Amino acid sequence: MTRAHCTRTCVTFSGGYTVILPSSEPPRSHWTEHAATWDHFGPPLRPHPLDMARVQAVCAARCGDAPRALLLGVTPEYALLPWPAATRLTAVDKCADMIAKVWPAKRLPGSFRAMEGQWTDLPLPDQSVDVAMGDGISTVLPHWSLMDKILSELYRVCAPGSTVILRLFVQPDTPDTLEQLMDDLEVGCIQGFHAFKLRLLMLLQRDLASGIQPRQAWQTWHALRRQHAASIEARRWPVPVMDTIEAYASSSDTYWFPKVGEALQAFDRHFAPREIHYSDVELGNRCPIFVLERRA
Ligand SMILES: C[S@@+](CC[C@H](N)C(=O)[O-])C[C@H]1O[C@@H](n2cnc3c(N)ncnc32)[C@H](O)[C@@H]1O
Repeated sequence: MTRAHCTRTCVTFSGGYTVILPSSEPPRSHWTEHAATWDHFGPPLRPHPLDMARVQAVCAARCGDAPRALLLGVTPEYALLPWPAATRLTAVDKCADMIAKVWPAKRLPGSFRAMEGQWTDLPLPDQSVDVAMGDGISTVLPHWSLMDKILSELYRVCAPGSTVILRLFVQPDTPDTLEQLMDDLEVGCIQGFHAFKLRLLMLLQRDLASGIQPRQAWQTWHALRRQHAASIEARRWPVPVMDTIEAYASSSDTYWFPKVGEALQAFDRHFAPREIHYSDVELGNRCPIFVLERRA
């Protein structure tokens, strides 16, 4: 039998084993699809207003009246903070569709710009940034080992004494399980679909060396939707919101979810942690905001 939903061709033989044939398809990321359905995303995958209040307070305390700001990605909430009038902000994202559809260009001053580029090769001079920010950036890398490359690159572009603010998605210290997730759903203690999806992605990751392919979460979601139809139905999640997971079906991306300790270890060479903020929102305990200071 050949399963059509695999990006690679999967052939299951009667012996019960599956052979996954090499694919001739090029790697395919899901950010173009996400750009088209961005309005159906929400916290915790996008930052909550309480998260943004924290970021605003940190910037006000640490970044001065005329900050040169860098945003990794085009997360609109960061660009739309009430920045001082003399702020200059550059957002860098590899996905042209995200820049075209999600970057709120019309609502921003002329000193704010978005550029297409890779975080591993930022289009900025050395020591030209006072505050760098990113939302969920460590999850979306081609490989976890690239985090070190990105932090080296951030170190290069950040000025001495500058601040880096990262809201990251981290694994809980006690691993979650599918049974726990479905029990929590059953008793009604999962509010949003995106919180459900984030927990599902995280619990499917075996370890940080392997990461998790969002496509696996898509397959598991469809199995759960059949097995637990009534409990899922009871949540009354809007269909377009649930359908955001469909972008994972043909994605060849891998996601990475470090524990807090693993994230701190990654920062250590270039940045010293100064504060870790947790917002009191759904899954806020898994989405801390790290405030880092560039080492001398
Ligand atoms: C910032 S992250 C996570 C989404 C985030 N939670 C939000 O609310 O915007 C998503 C963005 O990262 C971009 N991206 C992922 N890896 C990248 C890389 N290596 N260089 C530049 N952009 C990258 C994707 O194109 C996507 O627009």
